[in-house]
Amino acid sequence: MSEEKKNDLDVVLDKELRPQKWDEYIGQSSIKQNLHILLSAAKERNHAPEHILFYGPPGLGKTTLAHLVSRELGANLKITSGPAIEKVGDLASVLTNLTAGDILFIDEIHSLNKAVEEVLYPAMESGVLDIIIGKGPSARTIQLDLPPFTLVAATTRVALVSAPLRSRFSGGVYQLEFYTEDEIRKIIERSSGLLNMPLSEDAAREIAKRSRYTPRTANYFLKRVRDYAQVNKEDITPKIVGEALDLLGVDHIGLTSADRRILEAIAHKFKGGPVGLNSIAASLSEDQSTIEEFNEPYLIQIGFIERTNRGRVITQHAYEHLDITGSTEGTILSA
Ligand code: ADE
Repeated sequence: MSEEKKNDLDVVLDKELRPQKWDEYIGQSSIKQNLHILLSAAKERNHAPEHILFYGPPGLGKTTLAHLVSRELGANLKITSGPAIEKVGDLASVLTNLTAGDILFIDEIHSLNKAVEEVLYPAMESGVLDIIIGKGPSARTIQLDLPPFTLVAATTRVALVSAPLRSRFSGGVYQLEFYTEDEIRKIIERSSGLLNMPLSEDAAREIAKRSRYTPRTANYFLKRVRDYAQVNKEDITPKIVGEALDLLGVDHIGLTSADRRILEAIAHKFKGGPVGLNSIAASLSEDQSTIEEFNEPYLIQIGFIERTNRGRVITQHAYEHLDITGSTEGTILSA
């Protein structure tokens, strides 16, 4: 997957809205508690914390957590990504440029290739970099000692992280959960304060309802609503929120036109499923990983799609929402 690949809702969280302190970071309380223990213990022992992996759908705050970890430790944060580390030499260059106590953040770590992973293992486990010099029978390995560092990695596709790599995150493998609607409303209220835009609680709740339980989406919608209200010279009320987000093609539960196309394809072209993701993607001329990473997690979360071992199935909830009277053959009729 290329680094530029971004979904329509996947805009970069502005620095101005990113929480700077733990108590500004709303939600994910279990992860915060575990990190608090891990980091406090490491600080007391005057030791770099062990390596950490965060996983979960895009926009839930994995990068923000990496920033908070580095701040807590008073450490430098060096940021790179799986797709940017194509060759062993790229990783060697990143690792040899670290200084003691640095936090190395590797986003989308699932895209590292096998050769790069092999070099990362001893670096994570023993703090050494094995470099092969020369080729053929005269090739030899030299070992460089690396400064102590902590790898904080993130992925939206944990199933693609190999078991050997996963097992080396001895500081923990943490799953970010979708936020509750109330947590999203609080994030919106915090952001509206930072953006200096007055917002009633009702209006914040209306944005929250459509934000797919995802902070990045909430902040993006908040800004689009601000633009709409400004251009129309209106205050931000629930009605104005509705108009602004309807105009973006986002319905009252946060489905985008892309989500609706996926659901309609399963309903109409595949009789409700079960159908493989590759067939859905092909029928929409869409990239399989885009559907899997960006659309499906929310559709599963709200119970519109179910994964079975024979493929994806859309549920009665989805039919009712879309007001489709198509065949329910093959559909799981959940309550
Ligand atoms: N912005 C993005 N994620 C956030 C969170 N968890 N809390 C507060 N603001 C956020």
